[in-house]
Amino acid sequence: MDRKEKWDNMLVSAKEMLEKARDGHYAVGQFNINNLEWTKSILLTAQELNSPVILGVSEGAGKYMAGYKTIVGMVNGMLEGLNITVPVALHLDHGSYEATLKCIEAGFSSVMFDGSHYPIDENIEKTTELVKICAEKGLSLEAEVGAIGGEEDGVIGGGDIADPEECKAISELGVTMLAAGIGNIHGKYPENWKGLDFDALEKIKNATGSIPLVLHGGTGIPEDMIKKAISLGVAKINVNTECQLSFTAATRKYIEEGKDLQGKGFDPRKVLAPGCEAIKATVKEKMELFGSVGKA
Ligand code: 13P
Repeated sequence: MDRKEKWDNMLVSAKEMLEKARDGHYAVGQFNINNLEWTKSILLTAQELNSPVILGVSEGAGKYMAGYKTIVGMVNGMLEGLNITVPVALHLDHGSYEATLKCIEAGFSSVMFDGSHYPIDENIEKTTELVKICAEKGLSLEAEVGAIGGEEDGVIGGGDIADPEECKAISELGVTMLAAGIGNIHGKYPENWKGLDFDALEKIKNATGSIPLVLHGGTGIPEDMIKKAISLGVAKINVNTECQLSFTAATRKYIEEGKDLQGKGFDPRKVLAPGCEAIKATVKEKMELFGSVGKA
């Protein structure tokens, strides 16, 4: 899309970038945002590396940033103010049905309706309604089958392995992408984690055909597993905790070294600068691993 034609909302649906990723055997990163610094660091890195990018917003982060409209305004302002020309999708992460409608209304370009905790018939029914709304507005829609384990911003999942037949049923509704639980967990992986279930992923891929698959819980998955998952049809990988860990470690270092006590070191723009650089380094590392560099 020519952004100049749609001056007020320059965000794009994730559909095209994910289909290109699927066909090109790489994955686009979804990086969750929490504030201005997070958003700016991710956008600048995507631009520098000429990579498409998806900005993820959980319902909790939506509340924290004063609502979905604030976020749409902030991100669109940054695309213009920072001269960002790579494709950027603004995506609701693990949305309830109500939050999904609110984000569509607010101007998000992509939404995830997480109906995985409903009985499959209800998940299908609600997803079907949202497919229709998103198609009318040209937005991409992510659906989920088989809960992702762990906890993210109050959303707790049991870590079920998705049933391939259920994945097939949801994928045939016309959603853009499908998140399927394959033993992945939000947050840090425990010592005794068994790893991703590639047999399950292969069965899901065979049952769902060409739909781009989404891997949640990207933090801490070993490189070889990421590469194998991409080779088996994963075209979008979500990363949240890892940026939080690197931001906080860099901020801690700044304070522990007493830099805030030197000169104007207390200026928030100085205090937050090392954390921003740390987020950029994490995003760069992930984009290189996922293979999206140069694919804008
Ligand atoms: P992590 O926090 O484990 O990286 O997971 C992110 C995620 O899946 C967002 O939906």
